[in-house]
Order: sequence, then C-alpha cells, then structure tokens
Amino acid sequence: MPTQKPKEKSEKLPELMELFPLMEKLGKHLKEDGSLNGVKIGWHCHLTQLTLLTAEALVEGGAKLFLSEVNPATTDDEAVQGIRDLGAKVFTGENSPEKVLAESPQLLTDTGFVIIGKFLSMAPSERPKSVTAASEITTSGIEKLRKISDLPLPVININGGLLKARIENYHGVGDGVVDLLRRLTGRSLSGLNSTVVGYGAVGSGVAFHLRKEGGIVNVVDNDPVRRLIAHFDGFSVNDLLTSLRKADVVVTATGKKHIIGETHWQAARDGAIFLNVGHWPEELDLNALRKSAQKIDDLELKTQRFHLKEAAGSDAEKRLYVVADGNPANIVLLTGSVEPTLIHLATEALCLSYLAKHGTSLGHGEHLVPYEVEQNSSVLALEALRA
Ligand SMILES: NC(=O)c1ccc[n+]([C@@H]2O[C@H](COP(=O)([O-])OP(=O)(O)OC[C@H]3O[C@@H](n4cnc5c(N)ncnc54)[C@H](O)[C@@H]3O)[C@@H](O)[C@H]2O)c1
Repeated sequence: MPTQKPKEKSEKLPELMELFPLMEKLGKHLKEDGSLNGVKIGWHCHLTQLTLLTAEALVEGGAKLFLSEVNPATTDDEAVQGIRDLGAKVFTGENSPEKVLAESPQLLTDTGFVIIGKFLSMAPSERPKSVTAASEITTSGIEKLRKISDLPLPVININGGLLKARIENYHGVGDGVVDLLRRLTGRSLSGLNSTVVGYGAVGSGVAFHLRKEGGIVNVVDNDPVRRLIAHFDGFSVNDLLTSLRKADVVVTATGKKHIIGETHWQAARDGAIFLNVGHWPEELDLNALRKSAQKIDDLELKTQRFHLKEAAGSDAEKRLYVVADGNPANIVLLTGSVEPTLIHLATEALCLSYLAKHGTSLGHGEHLVPYEVEQNSSVLALEALRA
C-alpha cells in the first residue's frame, strides 16, 4: 500500500510555467484586452497551486480578487499565502463566501453553486447591488442552479461547455485517478479490477483511462441510458453489489450522497481501495464504515486502512482503504497531468472577461459558454502546448 509521498506541490510550479505556459499567455491576453481592469471578482474555488497561477493571470489583467474556500481538505496553505501576496483577499473557514459578498464584487464565479446560492438566499434588498453576472463550473452546481426558476442574473454554465466536459472532467480526472493509484499501490494497473460508479463525463473518463492502463473495468450507473452507452463503449455493466465483490478499486463519480453504504462495505473484498472523485465527500458513507471498523490506521497519501470482520461471527479480518476521507481524491492529492485543470481555469477566466464586457446585456438565467470563449481558450492552450 501507499509507498511514496505526494510530490511536493511547490515543486510543480517551475514545470508548469516552463513546459505549459498557459497562464503566462492568459495574463498577457487579459492585460492587452483590458476587460477585467479594476473589476472586482468574487471567486469561490479550491485554493490550490493551480488557482494561484490563475490568480496571477487575472491580477496581471487588472482584476481585484476576493476568494473563498470550497473545502478545507483541498486548501493548500502555501497557495493561499501566494494569492494573498498578489494583493488578493482570501477568506477561509466558516462564512467565507459571505465575507466575499460583503466586499461588493461585480462578478461571481462559483464551484458548487455556493456563493451564488448565498447571494440568492439574501433578501433582494440586502444583496450587494454590485453583482451583475456569474459563472458556475461544476455539474453539481448546475443541478442546483436549475432548481431556481427565476434567476435574477445571467449565469454562464462552464461545465456544459465542450472543453470542461471533454478535457477536464473526462481526461483530467481519469488521468488523475491513474496517477493516484500508481502512487498508492506502487504497482502496474494491468489486470486491476475496478468498479466505476457513475458513467457521466467524469466516470466515463475514469473508466477509459483505467482500461488504457490494462485494467478490467466494470461500470455501475442507475440510468439505463448511461449503462447502454457504457456497454457500447466496451465495458461490462453490473449492479453495484455484484461488481464490488470482485473489485480491487472502487471509484465513485456520481455527485450523489451515500452511494457506498453499510451493505457495500460489507460486500467489498479484502484489500479494496475506495476513492471518490465526485464533488461531495458524502458519496462514501464513512460513518457507517467507522462504526463497523475494529481498527483504523492512518497511512501516507491521506489514506486510511479500516480493519473489519470479514463476516458477522467470523474471526477472519478484511482491510479496506479509503483515500482523502472521501473528498475528491485527485484534487486533494493534486494528481494527474495539470493541463486539463489549467485549461478549464483559463476558460473560467475568459468567461469572466466575457461577462465583464457583455454581462449586463445578457438575459437573466443560464447561458452556455460562448463558443468564442472556448475558441480563445483553445488557441492559448494550443500555443502553450506548441501543438
Ligand atoms: N474530481 C474532480 O476533479 C471533478 C471534476 C469535475 C466534476 N467533478 C464532480 O464529479 C461528479 C460527476 O460529474 P459528471 O459531470 O460526470 O456528472 P454526470 O451527472 O454527467 O454523471 C453522474 C452519473 O452518475 C450516475 N448516478 C447518479 N446517481 C447514481 C447512483 N445512485 N448509482 C449509480 N449511478 C448514479 C448518473 O446517472 C450519471 O450517469 C460531480 O459531483 C461533479 O461535480 C469532479
């Protein structure tokens, strides 16, 4: 089990800057374009080294940044300090989105519909009048947004764009899971039996990347349409309990709660590794697992080993491994190639530039990412890739 320490995050910075200088190009583009000069942005996001790189580009473009943290488990303190050193305000801990709203931002950009949700939960007369438009990057956030019938501002759905779905959700997370499993197990993934729960953009990418490494992949999804697609993509499709009995690795990617609960912990085989890449840590019901565990060990790579009885009344023991307390493991451990995440962050920044120019003339409600934004983001990324 976990054999290597995660790569120091700060070590990655020179690589990113030199081998994939997307953010350098974005910074220059935003500065020349001038659309964000002096614009106050409220940004609810994961506070990582990649966010720091994006913040540098936005500040070069003249933006004034106010950030709140999505999840303490994904917050990198060095990155927070780096963002503060740029002159941005970063709020962590309780009520951090509310603190950002108190700074009267003009544009909001969200991860999980949290800061937009807080804005909407205020009485109309209490809301900061400065806010004119917003964007949201996650599937889970867009699901929440669609439950609101009368959005009082335009919101760009970045997740619905081609680049986020195909590059970040599909290739980025899939590659991150492969990288993570190599580091955790120290072994080849050939022949590894995995169960991927949820065959959306994220889960289908995880399944593709695990199979590319020679793994045997079973797909579980409660939607027959997704199961049919998985079948034609060449995966075996099973119910969760059947699939779990053979799985060395279980990856959840549904964005729903308690996908893995008591019966599933009981059905899992000895040595199975569980990791969640969906937005919410509750996808794995860890309270149920903790209740039945006889002993819990803390291992490297933010992994815990749970010792359980193989079956009630039996003396045999089984061990189950859970990564990052069920938080999105690729984000917590910053695994996988960085290009996909940087491309989506560049797209998010270019959406803000678009909103600064056109936000007040857009109608209220959900908008697709303008294709010209994805084209601009692709041009910068292709240049950075020298492709
Ligand atoms: N870790 C990351 O870096 C990262 C990146 C992007 C998105 N996400 C998150 O990943 C999650 C999935 O995103 P997506 O774009 O693939 O979403 P999606 O809605 O396209 O796919 C989710 C799939 O899960 C299935 N599902 C839902 N409930 C289920 C259940 N009880 N049992 C089995 N299957 C079930 C759905 O039918 C669907 O096919 C979201 O929470 C999203 O916010 C994480």
